[in-house]
Amino acid sequence: MGILAGILLAVAAAGQAGEDIVLADFEGETYGDWKSEGEAFGKGPARGTLEKQQEVTGFLGKGLVNTYLRGDATQGTLTSPEFKVSRKHLNFLIGGGKHPGETGINLLVDGKSVRSATGPDSEFLRWECWDVSEFASKAARIEIVDRNTGGWGHINIDQIVLSEARPKVGDDREGALARAAASVEEAAKRAAGDPLRPVYHFLPPGNWMNDPNGPIFHNGVYHMFYQQNPYGDKWNHMHWGHARSKDLVHWEHLPIALWPSKIKGEDHCFSGCAAVDAKGSLVLLYTSIGGRAPEQWAALSEDPEGRAWKKHDGNPILTLADHGNVKIDDWRDPFVFKEAGRWYMVVGGHRAGGKGCIMLYSSEDLLKWKFLGIPFEGKEDNWECPNLFRVGEKWVLIYSPHGLVRYYTGRLDLAGVKFTPEHQGTVDFSDNYYAPNGLEDGGPRRILWGWVKGFPEGKGWNGCLTLPRVLSLDAEGRMIQAPAPELQALRGESRKATPVELVDSWRLLPDVKGDALELIAEFEAGDAKEFGIRLRRSEDRTRSVTIQCGGGRIDVAGAKAPLESKGAVQLRVLLDRSVLEVYADGGRTCLTRVVNTQAEDAGVEVFASGGKATLKSLEAWSLRPIR
Ligand code: FRU
Repeated sequence: MGILAGILLAVAAAGQAGEDIVLADFEGETYGDWKSEGEAFGKGPARGTLEKQQEVTGFLGKGLVNTYLRGDATQGTLTSPEFKVSRKHLNFLIGGGKHPGETGINLLVDGKSVRSATGPDSEFLRWECWDVSEFASKAARIEIVDRNTGGWGHINIDQIVLSEARPKVGDDREGALARAAASVEEAAKRAAGDPLRPVYHFLPPGNWMNDPNGPIFHNGVYHMFYQQNPYGDKWNHMHWGHARSKDLVHWEHLPIALWPSKIKGEDHCFSGCAAVDAKGSLVLLYTSIGGRAPEQWAALSEDPEGRAWKKHDGNPILTLADHGNVKIDDWRDPFVFKEAGRWYMVVGGHRAGGKGCIMLYSSEDLLKWKFLGIPFEGKEDNWECPNLFRVGEKWVLIYSPHGLVRYYTGRLDLAGVKFTPEHQGTVDFSDNYYAPNGLEDGGPRRILWGWVKGFPEGKGWNGCLTLPRVLSLDAEGRMIQAPAPELQALRGESRKATPVELVDSWRLLPDVKGDALELIAEFEAGDAKEFGIRLRRSEDRTRSVTIQCGGGRIDVAGAKAPLESKGAVQLRVLLDRSVLEVYADGGRTCLTRVVNTQAEDAGVEVFASGGKATLKSLEAWSLRPIR
């Protein structure tokens, strides 16, 4: 229905049955009888998202008022013809910028603004309802204004209705998930053609991913959730992607699990964890982000496989107010564990004015939580994505401090709310690695995945997970990481290199070639200044990805770490097109790199410079793709 027709028809029908009167649905080509001034409103209603705008959702039909015409800089006013206030409520959908008095909608009675609303700084249009009964029978006009030219300097309005009832607000799960899935599918076509996209690392079918979320071993199956932007290959619109695996190697993508419930004021579903409740059902706990302080929310699975999720009716399950006098900033990323029959949870962040730390909570049912205190505060300004788990008698605390991911091993006194560190180390020495998350499986093994970041934009995909790494601790409490043995199923035929003494020289390995490879090499360091391996080496040797040891250090394509091994140095190397994982010092030193050299460069050489080093053994395998 067009606007003018809408008003006239509705007015004609008004008063008789108390039915809704649609003042405008903005489905027509023009604004009809509404008066448009300035540039922001254009000649007629917009058809959805405008050029260079984030995706606009939540409006009804095809058209809406959207003043992002030529960006935020344009301004204007749109005024309705006069109508009679003949219902109790005036309901409408509103999105766009939050600039009270500058971007918004006003109700004018006797020429004066008697009600006004501004946008929520979101491109999702949500219902707003004004009780207008005090103006019954008066003549009124609606005015939509855009007088702001800065960030979020626009307004979105749709479906203005006079009604006896308040709008019915549901949770747009189906709509949100269908739109997100269609967008990922579209990106997948582009992503699949990129020769640098990994073939045996886990990643979504298309578009952006960041942190692994809620990995869990449930009914004999590994579930992986992850931060996902279905709408592009940059960070935004945080959803939770979902996949499962029976063998830790091959993954089946399942429907997106969590979507921001815009209608409930949620803009992002940030990181979190999964647990199995007393009834055997999967529960997700995560940080809900919207135009308010962060809150911890729960989502409940509606089926045993976690294909469909419902936001818990009792959300939020925790708010900042639950900490009494303790003021916390950047509060996010819940991680749950069970100890002595009770649920515990840690959440990252920092005390206002303090350093990065974990907050500890306990619960009997995963849904009602009590704040216990702060068991440990670190040295960095903020901590994200904490993991706290037990390995034998020791506890391991992993945290992501906006820099290299670090860990402590130590003792945990839950009753006394105190973590006592004994050893500190670095989980991975590369800034391409962040926000790891792990699970315990039936083994029982502790398995950890990190987010691999730093890929170029514009390829229809961005981000993957590291290989699953099995964790153990040595006698000094140092973390040892090893790729899960299941990955050996991907190995093709084994190739062995002949041992060779290298004195200021290099040797191309004739049988080892490719960009999906695993190598296990052992060197005798000798007196060489530097020695190591070059991968993806071009024939003219002008391009390669270098793993170099020497002087008590290892350097993997520019990321450096101290190397403990002195004489004999063993390296385990996994190359997957643009992703490289290197394990040294028996898994105590790990580096994950994004290496964007050209895809056709696939030779492998070993080298030594400034003296002698010996390649004692090298075994290599081509690894098969998992997709
Ligand atoms: C870590 C992080 C988390 C947050 C999420 C949002 O990479 O910043 O703290 O929950 O990403 O995507």
